[in-house]
Amino acid sequence: MDAATLDTIPRSALPALLRRMPKAELHIHIEGSLEPEMIFHLAKRNGLTLAYPSVEALRRAYAFTDLQSFLDLYYVGASVLRTEQDFFDLAFAYLERAAAEQVVHAEVFFDPQTHTNRGVPFGTVIAGLEQAMRRAQADFGISSSLILCFLRHLSEDAAFATLEEALPYRRHFIGVGLDSSERGHPPEKFARLFARCRELGLHVVAHAGEEGPPAYIHSALDVLRVERIDHGVRCLEDPALVARLARERVPLTVCPLSNVKLRVFNALAEHNLPALLEAGLCATINSDDPAYFGGYINANFIELFAALPVLGACHAYQLARNSFEASFVDEARKRHWIDQLDAMFREAAVTR
Ligand code: ADE
Ligand code: ZN
Repeated sequence: MDAATLDTIPRSALPALLRRMPKAELHIHIEGSLEPEMIFHLAKRNGLTLAYPSVEALRRAYAFTDLQSFLDLYYVGASVLRTEQDFFDLAFAYLERAAAEQVVHAEVFFDPQTHTNRGVPFGTVIAGLEQAMRRAQADFGISSSLILCFLRHLSEDAAFATLEEALPYRRHFIGVGLDSSERGHPPEKFARLFARCRELGLHVVAHAGEEGPPAYIHSALDVLRVERIDHGVRCLEDPALVARLARERVPLTVCPLSNVKLRVFNALAEHNLPALLEAGLCATINSDDPAYFGGYINANFIELFAALPVLGACHAYQLARNSFEASFVDEARKRHWIDQLDAMFREAAVTR
């Protein structure tokens, strides 16, 4: 798609186009799609008592000051997930919603340690998620795969134990990631673990440069040898790093509403996504933990574009295209979705 064609699309057409365009979601924690209503529903089903009297009271607690203040509540929310049916219901609800927002492919993070440390077997988690993914593919045509995330506030030995538990289910996930509290837990802490995961042929990604410094992005690349950086927005503090990310075409999975809720930026209008694209980086838009941050993927797109008038149709096209290029699917599937994207933008350009 050439820029001249894209420039003919007026800004007024953008919200509808952002909604309708095919896209991939590459940074979604399935536990972060657990809506307060479902937390209460599952607590009741599992005979658990919550520390909050109502859905509204729980929602009022979603006023975060930083990443840790969010994680504290996120782990409380996840504690209602007990049975295979719970994990099915969680993932099916997300995939139904994502498909309605024209997500044609999702690479979904899950945090097994959050569950296995409470006595929920790894196999229960995987079986529920996997069944939902299969059903969502059949019912809505959405494709999806799983990425197992290790909790970086725990030890590398604990992560190795989780990897051992996961290996009987190796064919059910395509890669591994690193999430949870970033500051004080640099990527280097998991050097041996990620080397082993690479040997196993798993894709490797890591959260870096969300709250942590650009040095964590460097070490995620150099030590963990990751293929994508989750967040990565703090790279702009280091021009040499930006040049490297652009040269090596390392994708960044950016999550605008998350960044504002967790106070990485004060407002969407101050988000550095336009500068990331201007620097030639392969940035993508994602929802992170949509039940906690006020919106799913299309809200992230629409609210960001509304807050930043510099963003136009060429950026919308580039972001959707980047999401396919940054995904872990084969080239033929990427080509198929990019062809659909091209057709939609060409039509928007000629029918104005
Ligand atoms: N786990 C869930 N959401 C996360 C985020 N935004 N950063 C780190 N760990 C997370
Ligand atoms: Zn995340």
